[in-house]
Amino acid sequence: MITKILPVSPRSLAWAKELIESGEVVAFHTETVYGLGADATNDAAVKKVFALKGRPADNPLISHVHTEYDITRLVETPAWTKRLRDRFLPGPLTMVYPSKGKVSPFVSCGLPTLSIRVPSSPTAQAFLRAVDLPIAAPSANRSKHVSPVTAQHVYDDFAGEIPLILDGGPSQGGIESTVLDCTGSVPLILRAGLVTREMIASEVGACEFYTLHEGERPKSPGMAYKHYAPACRTVFFAAENAEEAAQRYAQEERDGETPVLMCEHAVAERYPALRALDLGNTPEEMASNLYAHLRTAEKTATVLIGIDPKERGGVMDGVRNRMLRAFGQDAKERHDDA
Ligand code: TXA
Ligand code: MG
Repeated sequence: MITKILPVSPRSLAWAKELIESGEVVAFHTETVYGLGADATNDAAVKKVFALKGRPADNPLISHVHTEYDITRLVETPAWTKRLRDRFLPGPLTMVYPSKGKVSPFVSCGLPTLSIRVPSSPTAQAFLRAVDLPIAAPSANRSKHVSPVTAQHVYDDFAGEIPLILDGGPSQGGIESTVLDCTGSVPLILRAGLVTREMIASEVGACEFYTLHEGERPKSPGMAYKHYAPACRTVFFAAENAEEAAQRYAQEERDGETPVLMCEHAVAERYPALRALDLGNTPEEMASNLYAHLRTAEKTATVLIGIDPKERGGVMDGVRNRMLRAFGQDAKERHDDA
């Protein structure tokens, strides 16, 4: 199979619609990361997504819809959730609702809930409007690999296995959507993202991080898996140990390795002689750069030396969740996913 990378046009959209209606898988740009989409109402198409990714069969998928799609066809929407939709959608917030069972049971892996996302990306909106179906889509990476933020990243993981990637340029958000459980009376964050706990709480009065208790079945099965791992070796240092990280860099070089640092801008500036993947200054910049840098690291280095950014809270909850997991440091701090 030849994999085509095409921008949105009447022709590419018509083809995407044809592919989706015939049970094929189409990758598409969103403002967070690229998605690997299939008709959520088609069992075989949804299964194909799991098979392509090598995704564990108990990790549910998000259903994506366009802004005019009536989600009450698919889910129950508790009254208090309206404020969140009005304020944050379309955008990087996925809401988990009680399901009405209208999509394939494979989408939610047997859970009584269904997660819905309304992406703001014009490419995603055009695609979702063209098909006018709920599109089940995980991030378009092989399971456990770094999520894709360009069409090329998707191509690198799935060339020859999917017919079409709808290219919308780089995904500026850079980390996956916030996943919010809306099945109770207080929203619970299952995966941190660009819509933060603080932002949600300011709309509806309260918002907590879901924490998995010993022996309990996780609300979000993806929480149990290691993710976002680059193919190179990784080492991680706390923010206050930057000097140690620089020494490790020198040691790796002496050992014949090709190291690269990944750290926030202020730290990169302190070590001008070291090759660094600069995450930037602000939490939003760090989110936007993280996955692109992890993909660059695995192509250009044998060892990636990460230094934890200093800032906490807000968007950093999401950034650090992904970063710690990419570096295998996630044991106590996981809120998520695949
Ligand atoms: O930004 C995003 O959310 C991207 C783009 C493509 O939209 N998608 C994405 O999908 O990151 P995925 O499959 O990589 O991550 C979905 C996460 C997983 O952690 C999964 O466990 C959780 O959402 N999830 C999905 N449906 C759920 C449900 N019904 N209940 C609890 N968690 C759910
Ligand atoms: Mg994923």
